[in-house]
Amino acid sequence: MSAAAELLFDPFDPAFRADPYPFYDRLRAAAPAYWTPRGNVVLSRYDDVAWTLRSNDFSRDVEATANAPADPLVQAMRDRRRARAKTILNLDPPDHTRLRRLVSKAFTPSAIERLRPRVQQLVDDVLDRAEERGAIELVDELAFPVPFQVISDLLDMPVDRAEELRGWSQVITFGLEPTATLADLDAVDAAFAELIPYLLEVIERRRHDLGDDVLSSLIQVEEEGDRLDVGELIAFVTLLYIAGHETTVNLIGNATLALLRHPDELARWHDDPALGPQAVDELLRFDGPVQQTVRVPTTTVRYGEGSTAVEVPPGTIVTTLLGAANHDPAVFDDPHGLHLERPNAHRHLAFSAGVHYCLGANLAKLEAEVALGSLVRRFPGLRLDGTPTWRDRLTIRGADHLPLAVR
Ligand code: HEM
Repeated sequence: MSAAAELLFDPFDPAFRADPYPFYDRLRAAAPAYWTPRGNVVLSRYDDVAWTLRSNDFSRDVEATANAPADPLVQAMRDRRRARAKTILNLDPPDHTRLRRLVSKAFTPSAIERLRPRVQQLVDDVLDRAEERGAIELVDELAFPVPFQVISDLLDMPVDRAEELRGWSQVITFGLEPTATLADLDAVDAAFAELIPYLLEVIERRRHDLGDDVLSSLIQVEEEGDRLDVGELIAFVTLLYIAGHETTVNLIGNATLALLRHPDELARWHDDPALGPQAVDELLRFDGPVQQTVRVPTTTVRYGEGSTAVEVPPGTIVTTLLGAANHDPAVFDDPHGLHLERPNAHRHLAFSAGVHYCLGANLAKLEAEVALGSLVRRFPGLRLDGTPTWRDRLTIRGADHLPLAVR
């Protein structure tokens, strides 16, 4: 493999992590189904990514279905990940179907719409305080606490240890990064070693005081004994809890930064508040927090046609670049432009597709629409007031410090 070929996809390159979009363009043009030096395939074309995510010929259970890697370090990492309980995110049907069904009722559009007044109230309280001070640190004051409170409400979890939980979940999600090391996985284990006893404590208390929250309904299913065991219960709650805030915080941050960099679009939303749902779709397309996910084919699959077709045998890890698909000019005109009125923005793959399509998509969209819509409506003079800092990540990507002036 030539050095030039290796450079096409390198998650270890800081320039790539800082701004992956120009790299995606080069990759899509040169090798849309690209074999990496490690023997994985990386997809950057919208149609290939969408087809892969929707196809039944792939597994999401990488630890169980991917070929053994040549590199012993990669094998050691895989063993460490395999030791953890599985969640719906890495289970295949029929287990995936059985578990997802247990909570899907709580995330239907109508169930989520009922949360709107609560989300609006939380956002208004934050923005009232910002208005008094003339400033807001967007991540700490709005983007983190609102989704965190909402998922805590849904599970009826106490919020008194929010900061510790935030720390643990940041460590745990770093374990999903393609650049994670064994030392990072040690840190993930240490975070789980604190998080799990905490969750067990909450679960034991709740067993004696069941309510109509999602955690109580999962405990009831576990107590019935045949559809959910206690390991699955803990893994499920952890996933909901972490996915419930760790991703939306980055959507709100990335989207605010995108709007500040496109003042005409910010003004457009200010002038037309009804733009909300469409604007959120475009912001998800433009710079979604989850840039990539993986699948493993269970049979030989083929990308492209004729002499340039790429055949991928079963057991190969296939990385689908959601961010690259969302900037594919074959589907989105002027893909690197932000156009809140883009007619096909809803076709984005920021929430993936197929059976693993994000369970919390309706909730994330509601939170973003209320938080961003309120920010834009109330503070048309919104501007940066300091230097934003960026989390150096790819799988879940976003700003971690965004100081703003609101007057
Ligand atoms: C902007 C915010 C969010 C983004 C961009 C996002 C993105 C994603 C993506 C890309 C997947 C699928 C990964 C794959 O196909 O391999 C996913 C799955 C999932 N998400 Fe989200 N998510 C967000 C917010 C949320 C929220 C608020 C929740 C709340 C509970 C949530 C819960 C889940 C769960 C449980 C799954 C696993 C679904 C399954 O495997 O069947 N997400 N999310």
